[in-house]
Amino acid sequence: MSEKTIEIEVLRYDPDKDSEPHFQTFTVPYVEHWVVLDALNHIKDNIDQSLSFRWSCHMAVCGSCGYNVNGEPHLGCKTFIRDYYPNKVRVEPLANFPIERDLVVDQDDFIDKFADIKPYIIREHHNTIDEGTYKQSRAELIKFKQFTMCINCLLCYAACPQYGLNPEFYGPAALSMAHRYNNDSRDEGREERMEVLAAEEGVWGCTFVGACSRACPKDVDPAGAIQQIKIAATNDWMKEKLMPWGKK
Ligand code: SF4
Ligand code: FES
Repeated sequence: MSEKTIEIEVLRYDPDKDSEPHFQTFTVPYVEHWVVLDALNHIKDNIDQSLSFRWSCHMAVCGSCGYNVNGEPHLGCKTFIRDYYPNKVRVEPLANFPIERDLVVDQDDFIDKFADIKPYIIREHHNTIDEGTYKQSRAELIKFKQFTMCINCLLCYAACPQYGLNPEFYGPAALSMAHRYNNDSRDEGREERMEVLAAEEGVWGCTFVGACSRACPKDVDPAGAIQQIKIAATNDWMKEKLMPWGKK
């Protein structure tokens, strides 16, 4: 065990006991290869079993360990404590979501919005096994592949000032996932999704601060997706105005 230590300051909130969230400081061993999640697990295993936080994979895949670390949204399993040492590390729940308990936030608002954008392939006819798989060219795949990398970690929502100001805004991950399916050559659900995307609380709620893309640990670039949807929605509007007979 290392002799060096580091302080981890964690926001605590137990709705059964606390009227307000408050910080609690824990001193943990300083181990160079530890990430924030290792420090939290050390606290849970050795100091205070009541500490609540989400995690699962410890390899930046499941998206459940999003916390605000020293004021910025990060994955706990990808954020090394050595980047903060010898200063203390402040760990808080992701911003812009209600706190359920300690570092666990209530994600219901995002889940509802995510369901609204229909994040799945929509087709009138689905091939039977005998009809075989759908063929897709490399160029068709590249059109949406980047947006498939989203792990729903919600760091982008914690970074987004627009979502903080206007909870009606659909926000970066839901919008970029809609863009992913709209650009999939196998999908036919674009028109249904555009009703949500082109609304005021859809892409037009975004003022292109770009904080979502900077926070994203998987290089999804949700801000880029949102700007591409704005262009698509504008083109749709122009076509409808200039060629109303073309609309089904
Ligand atoms: S877009 Fe990036 S930051 Fe947002 S939920 Fe997906 S992976 Fe996380
Ligand atoms: S624990 Fe799965 S992304 Fe961090």
